[in-house]
Amino acid sequence: MKASVLYYSKTGNTKAMAEKIAEGMRSQGLDAKAISVEEIDKEWVRASKCVVIGSPTYYADISAKAKAFLETLGEYEVAGKLGGAFATAAFSYGGGEITLQTILTHMMFWGMLTYSGGGAKGNPPIHLGPVSSGEKSHGTPEVFYLYGQRMAEKTRELFEK
Ligand SMILES: Cc1cc2nc3c(=O)[nH]c(=O)nc-3n(C[C@H](O)[C@H](O)[C@H](O)COP(=O)(O)O)c2cc1C
Repeated sequence: MKASVLYYSKTGNTKAMAEKIAEGMRSQGLDAKAISVEEIDKEWVRASKCVVIGSPTYYADISAKAKAFLETLGEYEVAGKLGGAFATAAFSYGGGEITLQTILTHMMFWGMLTYSGGGAKGNPPIHLGPVSSGEKSHGTPEVFYLYGQRMAEKTRELFEK
């Protein structure tokens, strides 16, 4: 079962986290690829049962290039599929959760089923999606890997016959 982890990244932080999520998904049996929104593989995204999207936080909100991609999301036949969001930021109060909300709002607009990775799943709590920051106390690569695993488990639960 295919999954896409789509990201915009200028200096590599968001790309590295996207790769961790895809790795976590693969460890749970999904055929997952991390793909830049600047090099999109349209057929792969269309065939994915789970689409996770991530962006750096710019000015306490999503980056313009990730937002521009979101405005094309309807072209990818995402209705009824599982969606999730992740973000990177320099500061833990730098606006990462606003970035997540912007992504999740677009997914809901297009009729996706959205999942956070589960605040109720115990530690580490992932409320709306993982956010990494320059402060090492939270949002570590391990959390992104675990988030990928949780998204994959939910995708299989929903779509495996
Ligand atoms: C133009 C610009 C604006 C930014 N604004 C914020 C911000 O408001 N809050 C924050 O925490 N980090 C901010 N950052 C830091 C980035 O979100 C952070 O370094 C991110 O991980 C970069 O991702 P990338 O390496 O994938 O490009 C900003 C960075 C740039 C270049």
